[in-house]
Amino acid sequence: MYEKAASQIKAYAEKFFPGLPFQTAVVLGSGLGKFPLRYKEAPSVSYGELEGFSPSTAPGHEGRLYFIKLGDGGVLCFSGRTHYYEGKGIDRVVYPVRVMKKAGIKNLMLTNAAGGINRDFRVGDFMLITDHINMMPNPLISAADPELGVRFPDMTVPYDLKFREIIKAEAKKLNLVLREGVYIGVQGPCYETPAEIKAYRVMGADAVGMSTVPEVIEARRCGIRVCAVTLVANAASGMNSEPLTEEEVIAAGEKAASRFGALAESVLTAINGKAEL
Ligand code: HPA
Repeated sequence: MYEKAASQIKAYAEKFFPGLPFQTAVVLGSGLGKFPLRYKEAPSVSYGELEGFSPSTAPGHEGRLYFIKLGDGGVLCFSGRTHYYEGKGIDRVVYPVRVMKKAGIKNLMLTNAAGGINRDFRVGDFMLITDHINMMPNPLISAADPELGVRFPDMTVPYDLKFREIIKAEAKKLNLVLREGVYIGVQGPCYETPAEIKAYRVMGADAVGMSTVPEVIEARRCGIRVCAVTLVANAASGMNSEPLTEEEVIAAGEKAASRFGALAESVLTAINGKAEL
């Protein structure tokens, strides 16, 4: 099944941009949904046309794959992801990453919106993820699949160091605040309790969200170089007296959209066309 979707994607890429190498992919989370509007002419296909892809039911997640030329190469831009809380199982959540591996993707940039746990963080800050804590099911629990990778992948440096250096350099050029920290990936869909947030802070988490970690685990198994940038969309539960709402997260995303888009564009342009960083 991964092969079928991968060959569909490769065929579209070749049709839209003959001969252009596609070695980089980006997954657009909350806050980056409008990124493809920067490239009005970019060809795209609906997830519905790709074998095994399911349309995302999460707000602001479009469910289209865009083919974008940036720098010396093509970028597969996945607008919308499946979350574990949608109930389709963890395999569905990481399916696009397995397809990317088969399609020859070497570099993957993940984006998301999260709640800030670190008291120094402000709503609207970006956080470069340096490490994570997984509170979701592990997507590698199944029969071993040597075609995708080893049984026991190393996770000592899940977020590629060179990739992180490039992101820091590009954020600096753009004068953007870029924090660094640990992301804790939770199941959702309810937001956390104040007691959970206190516990996660003690555990070492700086931000909490409902995505990304399974995709990173799968990418590492697949040998795909990965990095992730979080938009701090709200203060985590209990840090102020306000209840948490989806509207707040969406509004923070809209406010940050042009900065987030500029950062993603610079990073993708800087790494593009390179198999090695
Ligand atoms: N918790 C979990 N996921 C989130 C949050 C949050 O506070 N904000 C955005 N995604």
